[in-house]
Amino acid sequence: MNKISLGAIFAALISAMPLALAGHHEASMHHDHATTFNYAEINQLGEPATVIEVKEGTSRPLEIGEIRVKVLAAPIHPSNLLAISGNYLTTPVLPSIPGSEGVGQVVELSSEVTHLTKGQLVLLAGMGTWSEEIVAPAAMVIPLPDLGKPSAELIEQLSMSTINPLTALLMLNSYVDLKEGDWIVQSASNSAVGGYLIQLAKQRGIKTVNVVRREGLAEDLMAKGADAVLIDGPDLAQQIASATNNAPVVLAIDAVGGDTFSRLAESLGNGGTLVTYGVLSGKFPTLNLGTVLRNDIRVQSFWLTRWFGAATMADRQAAFGQIIPLIASGALKANIDSRFSVAQIKEAATRAGQRARNGKVLIVPHAH
Ligand SMILES: NC(=O)c1ccc[n+]([C@@H]2O[C@H](COP(=O)([O-])OP(=O)(O)OC[C@H]3O[C@@H](n4cnc5c(N)ncnc54)[C@H](OP(=O)(O)O)[C@@H]3O)[C@@H](O)[C@H]2O)c1
Repeated sequence: MNKISLGAIFAALISAMPLALAGHHEASMHHDHATTFNYAEINQLGEPATVIEVKEGTSRPLEIGEIRVKVLAAPIHPSNLLAISGNYLTTPVLPSIPGSEGVGQVVELSSEVTHLTKGQLVLLAGMGTWSEEIVAPAAMVIPLPDLGKPSAELIEQLSMSTINPLTALLMLNSYVDLKEGDWIVQSASNSAVGGYLIQLAKQRGIKTVNVVRREGLAEDLMAKGADAVLIDGPDLAQQIASATNNAPVVLAIDAVGGDTFSRLAESLGNGGTLVTYGVLSGKFPTLNLGTVLRNDIRVQSFWLTRWFGAATMADRQAAFGQIIPLIASGALKANIDSRFSVAQIKEAATRAGQRARNGKVLIVPHAH
C-alpha cells in the first residue's frame, strides 16, 4: 500500500464542507442519456424497515462545480435508525435519503472541478449515502490520497471513517490528559466506537475496562487490545475495582444511559470524568448525586456534530490526519456483520436494528 501523505489529506480537507450536518440529496428526474440507479428514501418518520423505500432515480447531467460519485460502501449507524424513527437530536427534512457517511469513487466531473480526478476515492459525509449514485458539489466531498489499488476490505473500513473513529479519538483526547498506564472504562464496548476506542487507547498505553451487556465478546475485545471485559450488572463498580486492582479510574465513557451511567460514576476515582455520548438503552441516565459530590465527579457530553460546528480547519486536519493513516494501514478497524445492496435496504435496516450483531451493517451498492 502506498504511504499516505498527510499533506495530501490536509490539502484535501481544505476543500471539505462542514461535516455531519444533515444534507438532503435530491435525485433529479432529467432524462438525457439517462441511466438509472437505486436509492433509499423516507417520506415519513417511523419504524425504519417499514418507512424506508427503494426508489429508482435517473442520472442527470452535472451542473457547475458538481461531480458524480459511485457509492462503494456506506454504513448503517444507530443514529441513522433513530433519525428515521424521529428519535434523534436532529430530524430529517422529508423526503430524505438516509445515510450519514460512506466512501465513493468519482465517475464524472464538471469541467470547473480541477482538484479531483476521475476514479479518485472520496469520503462522503453530510449527505444521504444510501444510494448507488450521488451528485454533489465537489466541495462537499473529502478527497482521499492515492491509496494505490485499495482492497475491498479497506474500502469498507474507509466508509466508516468520518464518524465513529473520530468520536473515539476526540473522547480520548478532549476531557482528561491521559497518560500511559491510566485506567479508563467504557460501556457498549463492542460497538464500533468502543472497538476504535480500545485500539486507540492501546496504542497510547492507556488501559481499558470494557463493559458489555452479554457473554461471548471477551476474545474479540482482548484481541483488539482490551485489558478487561466485564458484563454490566448491579455489582459493576466492584467488578471494575477488582479489574484495575483498585487503581483509580480517571475517565468513564458511556453510550448506554440508564443505571449503567451511575454505575460508571461509582467506578471513578476522585476527580474522575464521566462522558455521555449515547443512550443505547433508551433510558434516561441515572446519577447518584452523593457519588458526584463525594468523589468530585465531572459530567461531560460529547456530540460530534457539535464538535464539527466549533472545529477549526486545523482541528479537523489534526483529527483526520491521525485517523485516516491508521485506517489505511489496518491499525484501526471495525468488525463488519453483513453487507446489503440498496435494493435490500429494508433487510439491511432490520439487521442493523437487531441485538448481538457481529459488527456493522454496510450498504455495498455495487458488490451484488
Ligand atoms: N455523540 C456522538 O457524537 C456519537 C458519535 C458516534 C456514535 N455515537 C453513539 O455511539 C453509540 C455506538 O454507536 P456505534 O455506531 O459504534 O454502534 P454499533 O457499532 O452499531 O453497535 C451498537 C452496539 O451497542 C450495543 N448495545 C445496544 N444497546 C445496548 C444496551 N442497552 N446496553 C449495552 N450495549 C448495548 C450493541 O451490543 P449487542 O451486540 O449486545 O447488541 C452493539 O454492540 C450509539 O449510541 C451512537 O449513537 C455517538
